[in-house]
Amino acid sequence: MIAPEITTEGAVLNRVQMARISAVGTAVPKTLMTNEALSKFVDTSDEWIVTRTGIRQRYVAKDGETASDLGAEAAKIALAKAGVSAADVDLIIVATITPDMVLPATACLVQHKIGASKAWGFDLNAACSGFLFALQTGVQYVSNGVHKNVLVIGAEIMSTIIDYTDRTTCIIFGDGAGAVLLQQSTALEGGCFIDFLHEVDGSGGEFLNLPGGGSKHPTSHETVDKRMHYIHQDGKAVFKFATLKMSEICLRLLTRNGLTGKDIDLFVPHQANKRIIDAAAERIGAPPERVLINVDQYGNTTAGTVPIALNTALETGRLKKGDLVLMATMGAGFTAGAALMRWGY
Ligand code: COA
Repeated sequence: MIAPEITTEGAVLNRVQMARISAVGTAVPKTLMTNEALSKFVDTSDEWIVTRTGIRQRYVAKDGETASDLGAEAAKIALAKAGVSAADVDLIIVATITPDMVLPATACLVQHKIGASKAWGFDLNAACSGFLFALQTGVQYVSNGVHKNVLVIGAEIMSTIIDYTDRTTCIIFGDGAGAVLLQQSTALEGGCFIDFLHEVDGSGGEFLNLPGGGSKHPTSHETVDKRMHYIHQDGKAVFKFATLKMSEICLRLLTRNGLTGKDIDLFVPHQANKRIIDAAAERIGAPPERVLINVDQYGNTTAGTVPIALNTALETGRLKKGDLVLMATMGAGFTAGAALMRWGY
């Protein structure tokens, strides 16, 4: 491992982390909900949704289908692709804001469903930045040699926390999960994580939240009557934060690694809104043909977007061994993250 260089700000520079993604799996529910179908029960239109968000369709879970169901399915696919037995998984980290239950952690349920008999695990909540935060956490356990096989999963059943009478939020979100297997990397050309930059800013909490059911507003008839068990957002404030922050954090990460947007082979941003992605890509200087966009197909699956987007990139031949990949997220909190990696297979 290359020794890290620490700046006066405390940032760790050019620390090549000898962990790589060795497989990706995804799972989405079978039911497809098009904009047309949505517009049958909420006052909206395909034209409005496509123009303002780029979203054309999303998948929604059937009753009883859970985050651990999708997470386990995605994890099994990733393990099968890598040829790794569930019994050899050391750690499972599940990023989610729609856990099956408040407790136990969804990671425990996934562990049981896939038969990862020796694994420990936990959930991580950083909303739409959850997967990237979980990924970086998993990278630490692999690159320091503690673990050989770490599953990082982003899994959401957003349809359970969406108010389908609120046209400003219900059009955006979809259900889905993605899982990656992290393993040690023996050579740089075999893929590695290069650097990351993650942030939280709790002053943004008022603009995007789900206020009911926590210790501040425990579930009661009143919280349900006030629809506090659903996501609430100030769309314009979130949009502004997202467009500015996603590019800003990426530019800082690129600059401190001596890179520009033109050096990136693939930009894999959080899939919230095509206009947010386009604005971020333009500021970063990433050419449009190197920007992965699949929000049109899945909507915003929160912690699921980045691994699902990685899978789309692989399936469409847009990601190959040795590519320099920049991933970026932003979400409720506010949270924001960016990570640079060299793709390994
Ligand atoms: N269908 C039709 N009309 C809608 C609508 C919908 N689904 N949602 C809102 N409108 C209407 C509004 O009522 C408003 O009408 P008015 O001018 O008569 O008052 C008009 O469209 C414009 O609304 P506005 O809120 O200004 O639209 P917008 O361009 O800001 O787009 C969002 C709204 C939610 C799509 C946009 O703000 C956004 O994407 N924000 C970020 C949300 C996000 O990504 N959240 C997750 C972060 S991880």
